[in-house]
Amino acid sequence: MTYQTANISIEKSESTKINSVDFSKLDFGKVFTDHMFVCDFENGEWQEPKIMPYQAMTFEPSARVFHYGQAVFEGMKAYKDHEGKVFLFRPKQNFERINKSAERLSMPAFPENYFFEGLEELLKLDNDWIKPGLGNSLYIRPFVIATEPAISASPASMYRFMIICSPAQSYYNSPVRVLVAEHYSRSANGGVGAAKAAGNYAAQFYPTSLAQKEGFHQIIWTDADTHTYLEEAGTMNVFFRVNDTLITAPVSDRILDGITRKSIIQLAEDLGIKCDVRPVKVEEIKKAAKDGSLKEVFGAGTAAVISEISAFQHKEELFEISGAEDSYAKLFKQTLLNIQYNVSEDKHGWRRAV
Ligand code: COI
Repeated sequence: MTYQTANISIEKSESTKINSVDFSKLDFGKVFTDHMFVCDFENGEWQEPKIMPYQAMTFEPSARVFHYGQAVFEGMKAYKDHEGKVFLFRPKQNFERINKSAERLSMPAFPENYFFEGLEELLKLDNDWIKPGLGNSLYIRPFVIATEPAISASPASMYRFMIICSPAQSYYNSPVRVLVAEHYSRSANGGVGAAKAAGNYAAQFYPTSLAQKEGFHQIIWTDADTHTYLEEAGTMNVFFRVNDTLITAPVSDRILDGITRKSIIQLAEDLGIKCDVRPVKVEEIKKAAKDGSLKEVFGAGTAAVISEISAFQHKEELFEISGAEDSYAKLFKQTLLNIQYNVSEDKHGWRRAV
């Protein structure tokens, strides 16, 4: 069946894969819903957007994304409450950030009305894929790639903007053990660290795989110049609780302006928890771990939600963090989930009903 909304032409899938999916055992990002959103940029403008059955696509081998990595993406989630109502969490922030990332990679901005109409229609079509219950969600991956078949090293004149969706539970199933970077760097001053550029993630795979061989899940990246300040963990921003104060690094052109991160900073203010946004020295956190004032470390991100960090290693020193009884990580996670799943009041207007 095909039909048209204000701006989008929609081809509904004739069948669904949903019955073959075990929603109690989801591997993050491996299963995709029945539909996807596609919009091409050609002749200097975005063409008519389409929603179509999820399917493989063909591109010329010379498409620029394959050669120069001109690609940016977002991560967002849709949540369903017990009455079956669906919500997005601060989606305008994702919309603005993908266009900011696109600008940094010399890509055209995507129109707001297409973005939101596309999301809404997609979520209506794939509504059954969003399961209710805290922890269940539909992970939404908008992304843009350079499709122009031409390998000169300059910005492309043709792009494809897409949205695909994947049912998700938690990204990390157990507390995370991290290694503090001493040699490799995720980003540098003036680089693309603040953008959700595909290459930022690829560049982490090798050092992260080395860390994984040593038994760690992730790396906490440090500043590229001196490796003395703790920055972010690549799939999440990082918070440290020293006594009763939270500390997190300020965003910069090296650190992603995480939406979960900024929500926690706001929730801390709401809950009367002091949160210092300032550079965090590795030595300061090591000292706090040694003298017992480091109570908790946790990461925050859309996929990771809030993930407790149970240990970190710097150089040869390993620090186990036992966690606090009055855990801030648990408090923030519950407070955030209650807002996202329409359980509690949404005083900042973060939920957007779909
Ligand atoms: C997200 O949290 O949505 C991210 O983009 C992290 C991703 C690499 C899993």
